[in-house]
Amino acid sequence: MKQNLKISLQPFNKQKDFALLEKWIKSPHVKEWWGDPVKNIQEMSDPAIGGGEALIKVHSRPVGYVRWQIPSREDLQAAGLDDLPNSVVDIDIAIGEESYLSQGIGSQALQLLINRIAKSENVPMIMMCTSIHNARAIKSFEKAGFTRDRIFTDPEHGDMWLLTVTL
Ligand SMILES: CC(C)(COP(=O)(O)OP(=O)(O)OC[C@H]1O[C@@H](n2cnc3c(N)ncnc32)[C@H](O)[C@@H]1OP(=O)(O)O)[C@@H](O)C(=O)NCCC(=O)NCCS
Repeated sequence: MKQNLKISLQPFNKQKDFALLEKWIKSPHVKEWWGDPVKNIQEMSDPAIGGGEALIKVHSRPVGYVRWQIPSREDLQAAGLDDLPNSVVDIDIAIGEESYLSQGIGSQALQLLINRIAKSENVPMIMMCTSIHNARAIKSFEKAGFTRDRIFTDPEHGDMWLLTVTL
């Protein structure tokens, strides 16, 4: 099955698709790593500054969500990451449909997004952060081309790996 999946990034329409994203944010396998659903639903309803958002589709079926944006300097500073370059782009990702986990979809979606960001925007670096305990995510991000940069302590989420791609 892994070999034959047709994975694409498709426009995320806030009016049409947000209810599906809310369902995914509340599902236990996403909540486990994304944290407080109420806070996340609020954050995802705001525009992605300097980036965008997309549905991850397998064939025509929406199975996940990806969002990329330039983090505020305040947020980077709070996490002790203020040495990262200006215009670094941060990615958040979730495969919302649990039955689609661990089939290579996350890593392939990230590769599509890295190529898109590298082509269309003047971005020096892409970053992702995930809990040091989220082994599945770390492996998926490394398969997509990210490398581990450092462990830092996020004020809200605890010890996290920072993974980066330099463009
Ligand atoms: C993180 C996430 C996007 C990765 O996408 P995915 O499609 O599930 O992952 P991939 O299939 O690309 O890669 C996962 C790899 O980890 C492996 N894996 C799965 N569970 C694992 C575990 N507990 N320990 C180690 N490796 C694990 C898989 O076998 C796969 O490796 P393989 O291709 O060599 O077999 C997805 O799992 C997800 O949405 N998780 C919930 C939300 C989340 O954690 N978001 C990101 C953190 S903020």
